[in-house]
Amino acid sequence: MELDEAINNRTSVRYFSEEPVPREAIMKLIGSAIRAPTASGLENWLFVVFQSEEVRRKLHELIAEGMKKYYMAVNLPEEKMEKLRRRILEEGMFWAPVYIGVFMDKRTRFLPGKEFDELEFIWSVESAAMAIQNLMLKAVELGLGTVYIGVTNFQGIEEKVRELAGLDENYYLVGVIPVGYPRAEPRPRKRRKKAEDVVKFI
Ligand SMILES: Cc1cc2nc3c(=O)[nH]c(=O)nc-3n(C[C@H](O)[C@H](O)[C@H](O)COP(=O)(O)O)c2cc1C
Repeated sequence: MELDEAINNRTSVRYFSEEPVPREAIMKLIGSAIRAPTASGLENWLFVVFQSEEVRRKLHELIAEGMKKYYMAVNLPEEKMEKLRRRILEEGMFWAPVYIGVFMDKRTRFLPGKEFDELEFIWSVESAAMAIQNLMLKAVELGLGTVYIGVTNFQGIEEKVRELAGLDENYYLVGVIPVGYPRAEPRPRKRRKKAEDVVKFI
């Protein structure tokens, strides 16, 4: 697949078919993820694959909780909240055959000293985010859909995802990525801004 095709066809997929994702495909996704740039060459990312029905149910509940919190924070009208609830709990929004939790190990760093704490943290998150983008583009090539879940980072939720993954507080959750075959043909969303609107040549 041409790079342009993968970039232009990637879009967030939130409904998946029940078809299982072969382990080989998951490993291809991870293989592409770890080709991403990584600050100071640290490679301090960890990809946790949630496969069992039991952990997926718990993770799905946490995503539902996060989405509710997200929309409550912007006072989404009651009927829209109800629609969201139905979509998630009855129509299977975000319910996927596999979830990949992307974490980074905060202990692994290059620059010592408190003055670099924040920068080291940001660099690690950025590295993991780049890995996620690689993973998402590879998924397009394999006919798989993905969506970046950030709401699982809300306080009270992130800790639970970490616990589900069997990790302690040395790990930071960068994102949860549901992965599966799309239930319907993905239709990439248009951008509101054109390249000309967001560029500045000096
Ligand atoms: C850091 C980050 C966090 C996101 N968190 C969520 C999320 O919690 N739930 C969700 O449904 N989509 C989430 N998204 C997906 C965005 O809503 C989506 O990328 C955006 O609307 C553009 O649509 P597209 O990906 O189809 O082009 C997230 C995306 C990013 C980059």
